[in-house]
Amino acid sequence: MRPVIAGNWKMHHGPQATTDYLTAFDPRPGDDGPRVLIFPPFVSLAAAVASAAEGVELGVQNVHEAPSGAFTGEVSAAMAAEAGASYALVGHSERRHVFGEGDDRIAAKTRAAVEAGLTPVVCVGEQLEERKEGRLEEVLLRQLDAALDVLDPGTPWILAYEPVWAIGTGETATPADAAEAHGILGRRLEARGFAREAVPILYGGSVKPGNAAELLAAEGVDGVLVGGACLEPGSFTQIVEAGRQA
Ligand code: PGA
Repeated sequence: MRPVIAGNWKMHHGPQATTDYLTAFDPRPGDDGPRVLIFPPFVSLAAAVASAAEGVELGVQNVHEAPSGAFTGEVSAAMAAEAGASYALVGHSERRHVFGEGDDRIAAKTRAAVEAGLTPVVCVGEQLEERKEGRLEEVLLRQLDAALDVLDPGTPWILAYEPVWAIGTGETATPADAAEAHGILGRRLEARGFAREAVPILYGGSVKPGNAAELLAAEGVDGVLVGGACLEPGSFTQIVEAGRQA
């Protein structure tokens, strides 16, 4: 499987910073290199479309589940697709835990993304307390099952394992932690009729140039979803290079 190297800019980089970044960022992924995905803020998507190098694919960080309507401040999946996005992050831990989105809402967003022609990148992950209580598998499978209920095995999509305790904390899961969680997720995919090789599973949580290669080498890790370390093109390029060697 081609590794997937994805960068989530979160609430960073307006249109001018986006143009500056993407003018400097040309990792030339090529057909035999990794897939490279960038998720800028909505307002920077047009600037990203205008300046992304060939082979760099774009997505949005969130979508609303309705196609249109009286939802002040929200953006639908169809609008994001029309504006040039090909992917949508769904269920990122900040959406779950800062904005209170539950499994049903995330499933509805996943369905809306697929219906609009976007490839959803569905994020799952346990909180520290849940891990300490021995509930890793229960939490991951509950979150995954909610998404699988609205997906079908022929639909292109990506899954991301992001332990909440490792996001933005500098605390990284070990390759063994990642392999364990990816194993749990991969076995459930197969049990539910999804071909494992059709669904890349990314690891996310404090990935940086210094640990990307070992995480990408872990069993069942098909790519990485990067936050802080993708905000600067030089550092993200190093992670793309780790993906090329994987
Ligand atoms: P981080 O964020 O790399 O800054 O930990 C990852 C993410 O939130 O996707």
